[in-house]
Amino acid sequence: MQFRKALITGASSGIGEALAHLLADEGIDLILAGRDVERLEAVRRAVSDRVSAQCVVGDLIDSEDRARMVQCLQSELPDLVINNAGLGLYGEALSYSFPTLQKLVDLNVSAMMEVAVEAARALVTAGKTGVILNVSSAAAFQVFPSLCVYSATKAFVNQFSESLDAETRHQGVRVLVSCPGVVDTRFQERALGDSNVLHKAHIAMTPEKAAKAMWKQICHQKAFNAFGRRYKVLCFLSRHLSPRWFTMAFLRFFFLRKLPDRELVCSPDVSLNKSTQLEN
Ligand SMILES: NC(=O)c1ccc[n+]([C@@H]2O[C@H](COP(=O)([O-])OP(=O)(O)OC[C@H]3O[C@@H](n4cnc5c(N)ncnc54)[C@H](OP(=O)(O)O)[C@@H]3O)[C@@H](O)[C@H]2O)c1
Repeated sequence: MQFRKALITGASSGIGEALAHLLADEGIDLILAGRDVERLEAVRRAVSDRVSAQCVVGDLIDSEDRARMVQCLQSELPDLVINNAGLGLYGEALSYSFPTLQKLVDLNVSAMMEVAVEAARALVTAGKTGVILNVSSAAAFQVFPSLCVYSATKAFVNQFSESLDAETRHQGVRVLVSCPGVVDTRFQERALGDSNVLHKAHIAMTPEKAAKAMWKQICHQKAFNAFGRRYKVLCFLSRHLSPRWFTMAFLRFFFLRKLPDRELVCSPDVSLNKSTQLEN
């Protein structure tokens, strides 16, 4: 399939930025979305020698900004939409306040779903074909202490994408889902407060490599792709073969022991000690 115009959410850094360069090399016009105006504009300038590119600045957690994104999907009708903006938080769920955890669901689930559904609706209504690629994670398959909410949001992305694809593919709109392992981007810094832990552990791939794998998936219209050798194995085991205790042990060895400990967040009027245990 030849693409005319692509919209990338989260294009201001990491995988989204690498995808912007790759798609520009392919001669596909770009709509770049993100919150950070300066970074987004820098990406736009960097690709504009090859293609026509515009920016849509907004916070996908904000309903008004999201409504502007939907308008953009309807007016510009991109035939390739990469739903890439996402946020993670490492550490036990109880070490974060509920509003902080809710942001993960708002961005990784609600915004991802709205962009995918409205992009597909706009294409089907206009009688056009296209591809939507939702960026999930290899973390989507495991019971995953320390990435409890994040992994659950990405499990939603997988289930939703494969089901929506079954609904829309006969109308010419494919919905693909891509599951990278650890990628060396600002994601680690934002999720962990330290960009170096996983990088030093030599388990991260470059964003360029991740972008290439995604582009290959788009070209082959492969519904599902997990990539990175180690993660392919992990995803295969989790999906088809292994009992949960085995993938947990695998994760503990390769991943969880590398993460720093975090303090728990207590409710304002309850301290977590023995005297507050429920009386029967
Ligand atoms: N890095 C990894 O190890 C890894 C592994 C598996 C999956 N993934 C997934 O890959 C995707 C891209 O992440 P990345 O690794 O490239 O991380 P990144 O460098 O932190 O990029 C995240 C992008 O999402 C955008 N974003 C974050 N919050 C947003 C919001 N509220 N509204 C609009 N845009 C928002 C950011 O834009 P602004 O900065 O402009 O707000 C940024 O461009 C995510 O979905 C992530 O879950 C990453």
